[in-house]
Amino acid sequence: MLLEVRKLTKFFDAHTPAEVRAVREVDLDVAEGEIVMIMGPSGSGKTTLLTMLGGLLTPSSGTISFEGKEIGGMKPSARVRFRRHALGFVFQSFNLLENLSAIENVIIAGFSKKDGYVRARGLLQRLGLEKRMFAKPKELSGGERQRVGIARALMNDPLLICADEPTANLDRATGHDVMQFLCSVGCEQQKSIIVVSHDERIKDIAHKVFYMEDGKLVRQEPGKHGEVCNMKSHQFFKR
Ligand SMILES: Nc1ncnc2c1ncn2[C@@H]1O[C@H](COP(=O)(O)OP(=O)(O)O)[C@@H](O)[C@H]1O
Ligand SMILES: [Mg+2]
Repeated sequence: MLLEVRKLTKFFDAHTPAEVRAVREVDLDVAEGEIVMIMGPSGSGKTTLLTMLGGLLTPSSGTISFEGKEIGGMKPSARVRFRRHALGFVFQSFNLLENLSAIENVIIAGFSKKDGYVRARGLLQRLGLEKRMFAKPKELSGGERQRVGIARALMNDPLLICADEPTANLDRATGHDVMQFLCSVGCEQQKSIIVVSHDERIKDIAHKVFYMEDGKLVRQEPGKHGEVCNMKSHQFFKR
């Protein structure tokens, strides 16, 4: 199992009147190449959960292990290194640096300076952005920006891609395209992907769908990945 989460819990302002039980005793397994969707309304704890999985927020209790290694047990420096090598993030609001071109935004996410340009160019080409590589984010459409965001998340060849509401700022058709790209990446490169969202329209690409309410995963159902994934359309993602 790539990712094993056990009884993961986060209380903000614990033991004060302002205590928020954002994530409560979450158990979650994600296999290699698996696309997992976590659906839930605003405030249900999705971002808090994903941020902990990404090693960016310390849990109140519970464990997270990648390939059998517990990240809570790592020294801070090792955790930073692990995060840079193993994880890629895609954000709702893209989080691109406005003063850098598309390709520069991708290059800076790499951990090795060598071949950075060539790799970033290859990723942007595969995402259909070869003509937009030198554009600044403000010159790009929402869908193009999110594709740059996906290229950036892939730059370090991560084990796991975490996407927080990746379609929330996109129209329906563009959101669908972005999910297709994520699906392609998952299938062609055997990447594991966790997408959290309150957008019911995008859940079909997942292998497994979880529902989150009040900090808990309350329900799981199989996704429709097998029905909707057309591997032929993924050919351009071959390495
Ligand atoms: N840093 C924080 N301090 C206190 N409360 C927080 C913090 N971050 C999130 N919360 C609270 O935790 C709950 C879950 O938030 P969040 O994980 O952002 O949910 P979602 O992403 O599903 O909208 C909410 O009640 C939110 O107000
Ligand atoms: Mg959120």
